[in-house]
Amino acid sequence: MSIESKDKIISEERQGETIQNVGKSSGKKMYIESYGCQMNFSDSEIVASILQKDGFSSTPNLEDADIVLVNTCSIREKAETTVRNRLKVYNAIKRTQNPKMMVGVLGCMAERLKEKFLEEEKLVDIVVGPDAYRDLPNLIDEVNDGRKAVNVILSKEETYAEISPVRLGGNGITAFVSIMRGCDNMCTFCVVPFTRGRERSRDPKSILNECLDLVKNGYKEVTLLGQNVDSYLWSGGGLKKDFEKLSIEEKDKSVNFSQLLDLVAQVDPSLRIRFSTSHPKDMNDDVIHVMAKHENICDHVHLPVQSGNSRILEMMNRGYTREWYINRIESIRKIIPNCGISMDIISGFCSETEQDHKDTLSLMEEVKYDFGYMFSYSERPNTQAQRKFEDDVSVEIKKVRLQEIVDLQRKHSKIRVETRLNKTHKVLVEGFSKKSKEHLYGRTTFNTVVVFPKENYKPGDYVLVKANTCTSATLIGKAVKLA
Ligand code: 5AD
Ligand code: SF4
Repeated sequence: MSIESKDKIISEERQGETIQNVGKSSGKKMYIESYGCQMNFSDSEIVASILQKDGFSSTPNLEDADIVLVNTCSIREKAETTVRNRLKVYNAIKRTQNPKMMVGVLGCMAERLKEKFLEEEKLVDIVVGPDAYRDLPNLIDEVNDGRKAVNVILSKEETYAEISPVRLGGNGITAFVSIMRGCDNMCTFCVVPFTRGRERSRDPKSILNECLDLVKNGYKEVTLLGQNVDSYLWSGGGLKKDFEKLSIEEKDKSVNFSQLLDLVAQVDPSLRIRFSTSHPKDMNDDVIHVMAKHENICDHVHLPVQSGNSRILEMMNRGYTREWYINRIESIRKIIPNCGISMDIISGFCSETEQDHKDTLSLMEEVKYDFGYMFSYSERPNTQAQRKFEDDVSVEIKKVRLQEIVDLQRKHSKIRVETRLNKTHKVLVEGFSKKSKEHLYGRTTFNTVVVFPKENYKPGDYVLVKANTCTSATLIGKAVKLA
C-alpha cells in the first residue's frame, strides 16, 4: 500500500472486501467479508474452500446469502468498531430482507471475545477462531438444529496445509500463500499472540505445491505470509522448536526461511516472490543473500521498526535496539543497494516522551523509508502493555506525533520515488489504472506503483517501463520496446 491516501497511511486495516467465487451453485450461498491484515484475507480464501466443499457457492449480495461470514481484526480498537458497525448493517438486512440469514464471526475478534460475542451481539449465530475453520460445516449444522455454535480452540498443529484456497477475490495475477500461523513474540502492545496462538510452520512441500498450482493457473506473483516470516522453521510439524534443540536428523531435514525462499524462487523463474512480515530481530543476512541471488525475489523488505528509541523498544519487548535495527538496514543496503524498504511505526506508546518521539523521527531520517504504515498506540485488553504500563500519552499528543511521522514519511516517499526516475523498471501489470482505462498499473520489484499507457499490453504481462515523471508515491512512464 502506498502513502497516497491519508486513510491508507494511518490505517492498514483493509475495509470490508468480499470474496466472490464462481463455484457451482448448489442452492446454498455464502457471503464472506474480510477486514484487517493480509493473513485474514488469505484465511477467508481457506474458509471459502472449506465451505465450497460443503456445497456453498458465493454470492456478492447480502440479501441472497444463507450464511454471512465476517473475518475480523482486533489489532486496534478502530478495527473492532468497524466490525461492530458492519454487524448493525447485517442486522438491518436480516430484519427487512433476509430473515433466513445465518451470521458467523471469524478471526481475531472471535478468538478474543469468544462466547461473550454471542451475548453482546444477539444477531451472531457462530463464533469461530482462526484455528477452527475446518469445523465450520459442523457449526453450521448446529445452528440449523437451533443452537448457537462456538469453536475458538487454538491449535498446536493446524496450518491448513493441504487446503487449496479459493482464489477468486483477486486479480488472477497476485496471490497470498500462508507459510506459517501464530506468533511467539509477545510484543507487549500486540493482541495477535492471544488471538492467533503459538507459532507453527507449514510443510514446505505443500507451500511449493501451492505455488506450482498458482503458476499453472496463470499467477505471476506470490506473497509468502506469516506474522514473522524470518522465524519460519519446518522440522516435521507442530509448535515451533528451537533449532539448537533439534536432533542431528531433524536439523538435516529442517527448512528455515532463507532455504524456503530459495526453494520457492526455483518453482518458476517467471513467478515473482514477495514476503511479509519480516522481524528485525530475526532477519539475518542469509535471507538478504537469497534475495540477491534470485532475480524473481522482489527487492523489497517490510521491516516494522515501531519506535526509534531503544528504551521504548525494550518496553515493547521487540528484542532489538535502535542500533541493531540500523545495522539490519545497513546490511540490506550493502547487499541490495536499491532495495525498497518499508516500515510500521506506532506513535505514543506508554511513557513515550517528546525526545523518544524525536528519536523515531531521526531514525526515519536515517533510513528514509519508501513507504510505511503508521499508527497511534491503541491499548488492547489483556496485552502485557495493558497489564503492566499506563497508557499515559494523551490522544491529542499521539495525534500530533503521528501527523509529524506521516508528514516526514510523505517527504521521504517523494525522495525515494524520485531516485527511481529516468530508469527502466520491469513492471508486473496488475490491472487498469483507476483514473483511466487507457492506462495500466503495476509494481516494480521495489514495490513502487507504476502507471503507463496500455498500448497492446494487458494485466499479467511483464513490461519494461521507463519512468519519466512521478507523483508523491507513483511512477509514471512509458513502455520501452526491446531491441
Ligand atoms: N496499537 C497500534 N498499533 C498496533 N500494531 C499492533 N498492535 C498495535 C496497537 N495495540 C501495529 C504494529 C504492527 C502492525 C501490524 O500493527 O505497528 O506492526
Ligand atoms: Fe504482534 Fe509482535 Fe507478533 Fe507482530 S511480531 S504479530 S507485532 S507480537
